[in-house]
Amino acid sequence: MTVEARPPDTTARAEGAAADPAPSGPLLSVRDLTMTFPGRRSASGRRGAPVRAVDGVSFDLAAGETLGLVGESGCGKSTTGRMLVRLLEPTSGSITFDGRDITRLSQRGLRPHRRHLQMVFQDPHSSLNPRQTVARIICDPLLVQGWSATDARRRAAELMDLVGLIPEQIDRYPHEFSGGQAQRIGIARSLATSPRLIVADEPVSALDVSVQAQIVNLMERLRRELGLAYVFIAHDLSVVKRVSDRVAVMYLGRIVEIGEKRALYESPQHPYTRALLSAVPLPDPAAERRRERIVLLGDPPSPAAPPPGCTFHPRCPKAQEVCRTERPLLRIAASREVACHFPGD
Ligand SMILES: Nc1ncnc2c1ncn2[C@@H]1O[C@H](COP(=O)(O)OP(=O)(O)OP(=O)(O)O)[C@@H](O)[C@H]1O
Ligand code: SF4
Ligand SMILES: [Mg+2]
Repeated sequence: MTVEARPPDTTARAEGAAADPAPSGPLLSVRDLTMTFPGRRSASGRRGAPVRAVDGVSFDLAAGETLGLVGESGCGKSTTGRMLVRLLEPTSGSITFDGRDITRLSQRGLRPHRRHLQMVFQDPHSSLNPRQTVARIICDPLLVQGWSATDARRRAAELMDLVGLIPEQIDRYPHEFSGGQAQRIGIARSLATSPRLIVADEPVSALDVSVQAQIVNLMERLRRELGLAYVFIAHDLSVVKRVSDRVAVMYLGRIVEIGEKRALYESPQHPYTRALLSAVPLPDPAAERRRERIVLLGDPPSPAAPPPGCTFHPRCPKAQEVCRTERPLLRIAASREVACHFPGD
């Protein structure tokens, strides 16, 4: 089976195009990434306060690595993911991909990099155009890259096979497939141009539990076989534990803890991480009986009016006076980075 895309020889040497060999270093490097949305208008026409959905996010990702991104609803996971693949323009900060700053590249300048940065969405059916056949859906990104229609169709059939679909069904429409199959189409589309990074935004949340495991297995196999790196966004901490090498925990637009999966799950250092993980059932029955659930008070505050100091302080069981006034920065603690004045078990 051919899995490596053959790039067209018509690629223009455009702004930001890769001319020399890629430098060594992280595949993706994100620094101080920030997204401020204008406030929404009320019924009276007044605009609300701006929403700082993502506030100074920084991390590196190596080729072939999976970073899990977790946190409560509204903490900025999707906004971060969409900025990484440049579906959203960051307000400030930088995104360096394969050694090149892609933060402010125009759509034309982005074109040589676009094929390496792909996204898989939560709801497979709504992310696939219902009026397009599978052939069209998978071929489109290839045609944009300059492939001939014949080569693109042949590759689309190969990709269907690779993701466990029947290539003979290439001329069917998305509604003729189940949710799990439709997500396989979305994954095949994301693989069409042989990307190096896939941002998967809740890729299994909309699927039945039995199908979730199949899609997770497929994504793991593709990572091994194709050397993909993933930013894997999910609510389900068990799924994140399974797929990730490292995990970043977000709260109100910021990363509050980031580190190797095992260390982070076994001894979470940030009180918010501890609370999140305390809700995850444990497979060992004895450990499950001892599990203490930390219930957080209240809902997360609005990113339009974040609390001063540590934004977690109104809900934190360990909060002290300093937490109300001084914002804790990410610092090394117990072999990972933690943004807390009082990290620890
Ligand atoms: N286009 C927009 N305009 C204004 N505010 C927005 C916009 N998109 C997102 N937001 C706000 O930004 C914050 C972060 O949203 P985001 O969708 O990134 O969160 P999330 O972590 O992905 O949540 P979920 O787990 O529910 O998917 C939320 O407060 C959201 O209401
Ligand atoms: S800085 Fe203070 S309020 Fe914030 S998480 Fe740490 S202990 Fe809690
Ligand atoms: Mg989201």
